[in-house]
Amino acid sequence: ERSLLGLKELSRNEIESILDRAAYWESHSDKMVPVLNSKFVANMFFENSTRTRFSFEMAEKRLGAQVLNFTAAASSVEKGESIYDTVRTLESMGIDAGVIRLKPAGVLQELAPHVSVPLINAGDGNNEHPTQALLDLYTMRKQFGSLQGLNVSIIGDILHSRVARSDLWALQKFGANVRFCAPESMQAPELAEHASYVSIDEAMNADVVMMLRVQLERHATGMLKSNDEYRAQYGLTRERAAKLAKHTLIMHPAPVNRNVEIDDEIVECPQSAIFNQMSNGVPVRMSVLERAMK
Ligand code: CP
Repeated sequence: ERSLLGLKELSRNEIESILDRAAYWESHSDKMVPVLNSKFVANMFFENSTRTRFSFEMAEKRLGAQVLNFTAAASSVEKGESIYDTVRTLESMGIDAGVIRLKPAGVLQELAPHVSVPLINAGDGNNEHPTQALLDLYTMRKQFGSLQGLNVSIIGDILHSRVARSDLWALQKFGANVRFCAPESMQAPELAEHASYVSIDEAMNADVVMMLRVQLERHATGMLKSNDEYRAQYGLTRERAAKLAKHTLIMHPAPVNRNVEIDDEIVECPQSAIFNQMSNGVPVRMSVLERAMK
């Protein structure tokens, strides 16, 4: 039984075995398999989600688990109950694992030692989003065969991005070269020693260009330029996309702000892996759930 709180602490071998098992699940001919038949999994989302929540639920149901969905807005959290008491409540009812998304960073690390069931981080503040990064690595590995020496540009709202952090920690373990590109107001100073910031023109010269969502809900007022200005300076516009090398893969964790960080017509262009990333999220999460409970 194993939790997955982040990728920073996970070894390359452990990440590789999760990805290998995901490949097994992707190629599996049966849509449902009774691997987690007698297990109860609680999806505890204290922050909104579409992809992560539903792909975990797909993964849980494909493995035959019983699924309990907890949404903060419809719970006693609205009466002031704490995250800790909520998780302990579900644990005391007999869940076998919890998938958890939290707004603040740091709370999950405090919580985990007090909970006896495996916890899977579905995104905590701007700290980590390990299953997103695993599906990103899976998508890149599938496309390029190997991550060694791969040039990956992560562009946009690095400051608020748990995806950028999890991808950075994981990709570096595999010998990929990660570079960031962001306006000054969206740079994360504590990451500067781990990856360099380059201009948008330099960032476009890469095997993977990963665009990040401008997280409007996390920005203080005045931090953000206008959408048009941001698009012109940092967006993957039609003009920039036309100049990419033919092999360059376009990625984005989504949800996408169309015509802000990426032009509408680029989201589903032939070089874009954005919806493939979402498909890959299901076998990757099957692998993570199996690891947690087998
Ligand atoms: N990529 C991602 O985490 O999307 P959701 O917030 O919709 O889960």
